[in-house]
Amino acid sequence: MTMMKKLHMTVAVLALSTTAAAAQEVEVLHWWTSGGEAAAVGTLRDTLAAGGIGWQDMPVAGGGGSDAMTVLRARVTAGDAPTAVQMLGFSIQDWAAEGALANLDSLAADQGWADVVPAALQRFSTYDGSWVAAPVNVHSTNWVWANTALMAELGITQPTSWEEFVAAMETAKAAGYTALAHGGQAWQEATMFDSMVMGAGGPDFYQAAMVDLDPAALGSDTMVEAFDRMATLRSYVDDNFSGRDWNLATAMVINGDALFQIMGDWAKGEFVNAGMTAGNEFQCFRVPGTEGTVTFNSDQFAMFNVADESDQASQLAMASAVMSPEFQVTFNLVKGSVPARTDIPSDQFDACGQLGMAQLAEAAASGGLFGSMAHGHANTPSVQNAMYDVITAHFNGEYDAATAAAELVTAVEIAQ
Ligand code: BGC
Repeated sequence: MTMMKKLHMTVAVLALSTTAAAAQEVEVLHWWTSGGEAAAVGTLRDTLAAGGIGWQDMPVAGGGGSDAMTVLRARVTAGDAPTAVQMLGFSIQDWAAEGALANLDSLAADQGWADVVPAALQRFSTYDGSWVAAPVNVHSTNWVWANTALMAELGITQPTSWEEFVAAMETAKAAGYTALAHGGQAWQEATMFDSMVMGAGGPDFYQAAMVDLDPAALGSDTMVEAFDRMATLRSYVDDNFSGRDWNLATAMVINGDALFQIMGDWAKGEFVNAGMTAGNEFQCFRVPGTEGTVTFNSDQFAMFNVADESDQASQLAMASAVMSPEFQVTFNLVKGSVPARTDIPSDQFDACGQLGMAQLAEAAASGGLFGSMAHGHANTPSVQNAMYDVITAHFNGEYDAATAAAELVTAVEIAQ
């Protein structure tokens, strides 16, 4: 046999075995497209590959997942649901209510999920008493990310009040830097708004306005103050903010072109991916005015009902991998979030991860833990989208603060 023939035969055998392995496969719809996010996806893909499960990637860019959810709806309507989907809070509940999600109860019981997933997450992972999603992490939105060298150059120490935070931004602006790195997309403005509402009104107000949707709170002077704070933030972004992706805004802080970014801790994934260390080259602290509280969101994987038994087995293998304690460490170190499980020691995490884990536990114990409106954990997708519209219109100068608060009342009422 010639060398060439031998080679062809080897390739054919390899192809055959690849086909056999690929029969066990998950198609995963997600919105993890930045550098740090892609690295985190890589840890999941590799973990599944080690167990013989193939990965078909279905990424749809756009933080908060609105665009991914639009694509998902089209796929399901066409009778072609992906096997697994990254999903947030109330969206999980909506799909479960439609009867579209696979029941994970027996795996959850075998692995004792109920004992290690906190109640605030189980509220979204379960529907009608059954497990319908596997939570991989907890993120939170009330963080500021800062460039340490630039803080030192400008003589800025960590601000501990809203006034000090504004003063620090003023110093950066006066020195010719971009004070606040921001990407002008509705979900990014909404992400900052979570903290402005919490900072202006405190936990009870956040609950009344964002969770209970009380019209009196939504239209209150406190809400006007939250919008005023958004206008203050607007005055510290650069001229090119419009449409910028969040990770490009993070890159401005990484590069020392900008002082701060208000963003969820997926931003930490970008710093880490750039080879920077928490507490050294970059800093994290809670948005001044929100200390003691955490506005959280949790990425969960929901498995869609599929007929094929091998696909069902792959779904369970994926859910099992996602919930394993080892994987929750590996993944969250890269992603910037903290584990969804409460039984994971924090010692392997960096300074921001350890702070995040401690603050999450404290907030949960003291009644300071709230779902993020911007990331689908405070109210339904339709209310969330209605809020996005008002917040972004105000940020772009369409409404003054008082009009924005009034518009919020109307928009929320219509969306319910
Ligand atoms: C998700 C994060 C993601 C971020 C930006 C959030 O809604 O929960 O996992 O990194 O959006 O894409």
